[in-house]
Amino acid sequence: MSKSIILVTGGTGYIGSHTVVALQQAGFEAVIIDNLSNSTAEVVDGIARITGARPHFERVDCCDRHAVAAVFEKYPGITAVIHFAASKAVGESVEKPLLYYRNNLVSLLNVVEEMLAHAVLSIVFSSSCTVYGQPAALPVTEDAPVQPALSPYGNTKQICEEILRDTAASCALQGVLLRYFNPVGAHPSAEIGEWPVGVPQNLVPFITQTAAGVRKELSVFGNDYHTPDGSCIRDYINVVDLARAHVQAVNYLLGGKNKTAMDVFNIGTGKGLSVLELVSAFQEATGVKIPYKITGRRAGDIEQVWANPGKAHAVLGWHAQESIEDTLRSAWKWEKKVRGIEQ
Ligand code: UD1
Repeated sequence: MSKSIILVTGGTGYIGSHTVVALQQAGFEAVIIDNLSNSTAEVVDGIARITGARPHFERVDCCDRHAVAAVFEKYPGITAVIHFAASKAVGESVEKPLLYYRNNLVSLLNVVEEMLAHAVLSIVFSSSCTVYGQPAALPVTEDAPVQPALSPYGNTKQICEEILRDTAASCALQGVLLRYFNPVGAHPSAEIGEWPVGVPQNLVPFITQTAAGVRKELSVFGNDYHTPDGSCIRDYINVVDLARAHVQAVNYLLGGKNKTAMDVFNIGTGKGLSVLELVSAFQEATGVKIPYKITGRRAGDIEQVWANPGKAHAVLGWHAQESIEDTLRSAWKWEKKVRGIEQ
């Protein structure tokens, strides 16, 4: 029997590449489309080295509708789409909102319109816990209200969720919205990982670059929050665990197990860690000291958020498995590899 083909947009990106590995290891065939605006084609080699199979790769910008259509025509066996392709830098989205609205919304519209035109009716969408803002109750469940977005980036995630919900209500499209908490770490092989362009905005890449000596010290953005040690709290989810959630979501849709046309799941560990706790965990896991200073709060940061992942446990059968120590060791192993530091 031929394998079911999954189209992965943004499949050479950080979460996309780990998901392609998980898909192939679960017996799916993957077609990656990516415009390489924030990744390189070498990622495909890393995926091939891990899995022993080379995913199909097409350099395509999802904003180019004709190019997206051509991919569906070239691979008639596509059964589902996982849509990652999007811009994701919060600060940049504040400076260039139109770029973010165009890129993130037009991409989704093109992908869904071409799915429907080719009778591909299952989609998994890469959403974010950013839609909850600062939740009133923690841990946050999927029925917590969506709050006004703090950035154009966050707003694109909310609008994309709405586009998908409205479309699913109007036709046979079905899907899963995965609201990720904070994805961190790398594949344990260190063949693929996160590769931020320029100065990292996210915490873990900044920590690993500081450990590698690329950055002098970490700035901890605020220690006067209403949390036990004063620093912000997040739910750091291992990227390989997160990748598995996509495979389980695809199986859920293709197996016809979904009760709702557009279902939503939190993907997190269920445990909150403060910035200072994360720095300590990194130091303990790797033995590398991270110089840091406390600076002012970062505009737009929320104080604390962590997931109630109970629905993903119960309905998808998905659980986070990796410890934060192993996760941070994997991030450090990857950083050392790309910097040529002896392992
Ligand atoms: C951010 C976005 C979120 C997005 C995600 C994508 C904001 C407000 N939120 O999540 O919408 O989905 O990235 O990756 O930007 N920190 C430091 N020093 C640093 C970097 C971060 O102290 O150099 C702190 C932050 O204040 C925060 C925590 O570390 O408390 C995590 O920050 P980060 O990794 O940027 O993720 P989020 O802000 O949670």
